[in-house]
Amino acid sequence: MSRDTLPTDNPAVVTVGLPYANGDLHVGHLRGYVSGDVYARALRRVGQQTAFVCGSDMHGTPIAVNAAEEGVDPESFALEYHELYERTFPQFNVEFDNYGHTHDETNTETTREFVRTWVEQGHVFEKEIQVAWDTEEDQPLPDRFVEGTCPYCGEHARGDECDEGCQRHLEPGEIEDPVSTITGNPAEYRRREHEFLRLSDFQDYLQHFIDRLEGTENASNQPREWIEGELQDLCITRDMDWGIDYPGEGEEDLVLYVWVDAPIEYVSSTKQYTERVGADEYDWEEVWKPGGEERLGAEWDESWDDETGEIIHVIGRDIIQHHTVFWPAMLRGAGYAEPRAVLATGFVGIDGKALSTSRNRAVWADEYLETGFHPDLFRYYITTGSGLETDVDFSWDRFAERVNGELVGNLGNFCYRALLFAHRNYDGTPDADVSEEVAERITGAVEEFEAAVGEYRLRDVADVAVDLADFGNEYIQRNEPWNLVDDDPDRAAQVIRDCVQLTKACAVLMQPVLPEKAADLWDQLGETGSVDDATQAAALDAPPADFGEPSELFTKIEDEEVEELNETLRERVAAASEDEDDDGDEAESVDLEPLAEERIGFEDFQAVDIRVGEITAAEPIEDSDNLMRLEVDIGVEQRQVVAGIKGLHDAEDLPGTRCVLLANMEKAELFGYESNGMILAAGEDADLLTTHADAPLGTKIR
Ligand code: MSP
Ligand code: ZN
Repeated sequence: MSRDTLPTDNPAVVTVGLPYANGDLHVGHLRGYVSGDVYARALRRVGQQTAFVCGSDMHGTPIAVNAAEEGVDPESFALEYHELYERTFPQFNVEFDNYGHTHDETNTETTREFVRTWVEQGHVFEKEIQVAWDTEEDQPLPDRFVEGTCPYCGEHARGDECDEGCQRHLEPGEIEDPVSTITGNPAEYRRREHEFLRLSDFQDYLQHFIDRLEGTENASNQPREWIEGELQDLCITRDMDWGIDYPGEGEEDLVLYVWVDAPIEYVSSTKQYTERVGADEYDWEEVWKPGGEERLGAEWDESWDDETGEIIHVIGRDIIQHHTVFWPAMLRGAGYAEPRAVLATGFVGIDGKALSTSRNRAVWADEYLETGFHPDLFRYYITTGSGLETDVDFSWDRFAERVNGELVGNLGNFCYRALLFAHRNYDGTPDADVSEEVAERITGAVEEFEAAVGEYRLRDVADVAVDLADFGNEYIQRNEPWNLVDDDPDRAAQVIRDCVQLTKACAVLMQPVLPEKAADLWDQLGETGSVDDATQAAALDAPPADFGEPSELFTKIEDEEVEELNETLRERVAAASEDEDDDGDEAESVDLEPLAEERIGFEDFQAVDIRVGEITAAEPIEDSDNLMRLEVDIGVEQRQVVAGIKGLHDAEDLPGTRCVLLANMEKAELFGYESNGMILAAGEDADLLTTHADAPLGTKIR
C-alpha cells in the first residue's frame, strides 16, 4: 500500500451509487446510503476533511420506459422521485453535503467537458455497430428496450446488464435472441453509427490501478479478469431522446449512455458543494483534478498519490465493473484523479431471494419509517449484521433481536445505569480519576475504531461502541458500586467516574452509526456543543460535573410488533412468488384499454360497411418489415388490401382463411401498393376476426 493510511491531510470525498429516479427506495438501496453515511461520519470523526455527496440518476432506459408507461415525460417523472429521495435520506439520518441530479446544469456541463476532452485526446472513435431494432414500431431498441440471452453465461439478460446471471455489462448488439420489450416481437439487428471510448487505451493504466485500489476485496478481485483480458471498447452513445446530448457535430439524434453522465455526477455534486461553501473551505479540484491540466495525457505518476484527495466510492456489488473499469478510464482520459477505494456491499434479499421492486418483494423505506422505529436502529442493524461484502437477508426477527439484545440490553442499559447511578449519588460526574484499566480500555477502543476506518472495516467501526458498553456492563457488575457507596466511598466514586467516562466514550464512538442517539446521550451527559464536532480525544476528556436525570436511549421491541411485521412480509413474499409462477402465461394478462366514453348512434354504425370475406392470396412485401399484400374475395368484388401482419402470420397459411373486412375504408398507398379496405384483427398478435357459420362472402355485418 503506497498511500498514507487514512486520515490524511488531503480532503476526501465519499460517494454512494446514485439511485435511479425510478421507484421507491427499499432496504437494499438503504444499505449503501447508510454505509456511505456511516463511513463519511467515521472519517470526519478521525479528523479527515470529508464531503459526502450523491445525486439522483435521472437518465437511462428504465426511466424512459416507466415514464412512457405512465404517460408522462421522463423529466417530470424522474424529478418526482428525485424529490422523494431528497426527503427520504435525512429521515434515515443520511446527510449528504450535496445531493444533486444528473440532469442538472452542472452535470450536463461537466459531462460534456469530459467527452470533449476524450475526443481531443483521441480516445473516442466512431464505429458502425449492430443495434437491436423493433420492426413493428420501426425504432431502435437501446438497453432496457431489449431482452434476450447473455452471451457470456447464457442467463436471461435485460438490455445492458446481465442482472440475473454473471452481472456483466453488455454492449449494444451483444445480447442473443433479442426480443423487443415494446412489442414482444423478436428484434432485428441493424447497423448504426455510434461513438466509442477506446478502453484499450487504458489497459496498462488499469492494470496498475487495480493493484493500487483499496476498499473491499470483491471490488478489486472481480474486475481483474476483465482488465487482464481484452478490454472491450465502451459504446458511449444511444439512439434516444432522453439523456444528455452528445456534444459532437452531426450527432443530434444521439444522447450519451447513462453510465457516462452518472458517475460524472460524483464530480458535479462535489463541485456544487464547493460552490456553496467556497473553495477555501472545500475545494473540489484538490480532490478530483489536482494538477489542473498537467496530468492530462501524461503517464500515471505514483508521486501524484500524495497530492491527491481521497476518493471513496460506496456501491452495491452489481456495479463493480462500472466503478473499477469504465470509471477510472473515464477519469484518466479526462485528466482527473482516480478513486482511492471502492467499497462494494453485498446485496440485501429476503428469504434467500433478491428484492424485486416490480414484484413488491421488499421492505420499503417508507414502510420502515411508518413502524415508528428510530432510524438509527436500522442503521445499526444494516451495518453490523454482517461484513460489508456479504449478502444478507432482511429479517424483522433478526432486527428485533439485535436491537433488543445489543442496543437495549447492552449499550442502552449500560449508559442508563451509569448515568442514573452518577446522577442519584453525585448529581453528575463524581470527583475522581479514571482508573488505568478503563483508560486503557477506552484508548484501545479508539485505536480499534481508527484502524477499522483505515481498513474500511465498516462493521467494526459500528461495533466498537457496543463492545465498549459490553465491557462497561461487565465492569459495573464486577465492581458492584452499589455495595461500595457506604463502605468505600472513594472507590465507589472512582468506579462511577469510570462508568461515566465509558459512557462518554460510547457517545463519541457510536456517533457515526447512531448519530441521533449519540446526540441524545451527549445532552444527557450535560455536554454542550455537538457530538458531531467532538474529536476522538473527547473519549477521554472529563465529562461535565453536573447532569440531570438520564432517560433510556432505546426501547424494547415487543414480540407482537415483530409478529405483525413478519405476517405482512410473509404475505407479500408469498404474493410475489405467485406472481413469479404466473410469469409463464404472461400473454393472459394484457393491459386492457378503457372503454370509449362517447356513444355513437346506429346511423353512425351503419355508415361502416363491414363484409364477410376470404383471403385468396397473400404475399409479404419485400421492402417492408411488417406489411403483407392480401387479396380478399368479398363476394361482390375482389379487393387488394395491405395489412400489417407480416411476421405474425405465414403467407402460405392464409389463402382460404375467412376474414372480416372494413370495405369502405379510405384507400391508401403503402410501399407502392394500393390498399383498398382493412381486415380486422385483435391484439398484438393480429388474431384475425372471422364468422363461425356459413354466411356467404360479401354478407354485411350489422
Ligand atoms: N444508477 C445506478 C448507479 C449509478 S452510480 C454512478 C444504479 N441505481 S440503482 O437504483 O439500481 O441502485 C442504487 C444503488 O443501490 C447501487 O449502488 C446499487 O448497487 C444498490 N442496490 C440496489 N439494490 C440493492 C440491494 N438489493 N442490496 C444492496 N444494494 C442494492 O445502479
Ligand atoms: Zn451473464
